[in-house]
Amino acid sequence: MKPFLTLLSLFTLFVLTSCQKDSFQTKIDYPVLPETSYDYTPKWGGMHSHMAGQDLGITDAGATLGRVLFYDKILSIDNTVSCGSCHHQDIGFSDQARVSQGIDHQVTDRNAPSISNLYDDNLLFWDGRSTNLNDLVLQPVRNHKEMGMENMDFLVTKIKAAPYYQELFTKAYGDAEVTSTRVADAMAQFVRSMIGCDSEMDRQFNSGQPLSTQAEEGRNIFFGKGTCYNCHSGPDFNDRGGFFDPFFPPNGGGFGWAQDIADIGLDEAYIDVGMGVFDPKLVGVFKIPSLRNVAMTAPYMHDGRFATLEEVVNHYNNDIKKSPNLDNVFKSWDTGDAIKLGLSEGEVSSVVAFLHSLTDDNYMNDERFADPFTK
Ligand code: HEC
Ligand code: HEC
Repeated sequence: MKPFLTLLSLFTLFVLTSCQKDSFQTKIDYPVLPETSYDYTPKWGGMHSHMAGQDLGITDAGATLGRVLFYDKILSIDNTVSCGSCHHQDIGFSDQARVSQGIDHQVTDRNAPSISNLYDDNLLFWDGRSTNLNDLVLQPVRNHKEMGMENMDFLVTKIKAAPYYQELFTKAYGDAEVTSTRVADAMAQFVRSMIGCDSEMDRQFNSGQPLSTQAEEGRNIFFGKGTCYNCHSGPDFNDRGGFFDPFFPPNGGGFGWAQDIADIGLDEAYIDVGMGVFDPKLVGVFKIPSLRNVAMTAPYMHDGRFATLEEVVNHYNNDIKKSPNLDNVFKSWDTGDAIKLGLSEGEVSSVVAFLHSLTDDNYMNDERFADPFTK
């Protein structure tokens, strides 16, 4: 931890603990919360209709506390960064920057992914290094580039010193005790509650009403000669669908990752090893990301290398590299070379139009997930 940051934090802690409530008003922001808490019962629908009635272990008070923690900058060592600084609601909880800025002008190693419908995801981060949200949520808090709060005792001390948490913890857990386990549990409840299934595609799924002509053409390509459905199927467009490769991952799927990972031939020589940290045979392999709200979440890929969806589709269309671990979906069966999809310019635009139908404006404007500190 940088000595300057420690000093800054101690000073803030001093300010937090030594002021009277009145002067707090000018020193720190209070979250503005509804009188009766929002209803965090998931609004299942569209392609997630099968989930109706499922209990995700979320209480309204727990998710409310999680929401405040998600947006509270005091969770970072110098009070400048919150989860919301890199995960912006209006762009599907992603970040416009290729890499995001954390504390002390440091930048992250990868592009911040969008967040939605992670309630049952057991492959988190681009390299799948976390397998559940309770385990994940404190990692950005502790990460020395993101929020830098390595000492959990200090985190607890800072949260205790902020006047608005007593009531929030009491409502969520029956008493005001602050522990890092409770902090993680509440934030995980909030992130689990972040569910959106009201895109044009979801409404089409329910009603059978077709999308626009162009988007329908794009959908046929997506689920046909474009091969996209092989990896982007299921209600969040991140499951391996039609093509099940018994030889991949190399130990036949024994990793328990349901094979929702792939090397899509971005580079001939790898820059970021991705899941190679677990097994050399997985070098260059990354999590298959959800495509929900993807029209809003540029730039794309683990390193944010593509600025537009056209660039992404053109990569698949004619620029897949023969990388050492290239997915079999993209290999010609006889030569083993990288395939070219051979889509026309118009067909590329149609795929992009289809991807636009996955945008859920209600999710991105849902006040239950909004920043309570900016009202
Ligand atoms: C400084 C920017 C930054 C901050 C602050 C930040 N994140 Fe992230 N987040 C990222 C980046 C970058 C990744 C991808 C990291 C990787 O995969 O290696 C990520 C990944 C994630 C993921 C994984 C999503 C997926 O589909 O696998 C979740 C969930 C998440 N962050 C939640 C949070 C929460 C909760 C907080 C606050 C405690 C937070 N983030 C704070 C930048 C940030
Ligand atoms: C073999 C599996 C596979 C197939 C087939 C596939 N993808 Fe992907 N897709 C991935 C993986 C893995 C990534 C992330 C790669 C990375 O960042 O290194 C990805 C990333 C993306 C992204 C960027 C998402 C983001 O948030 O950054 C888009 C958009 C996308 N794919 C669309 C498509 C389309 C359209 C097709 C069909 C033309 C397609 N994909 C075919 C596996 C696949």
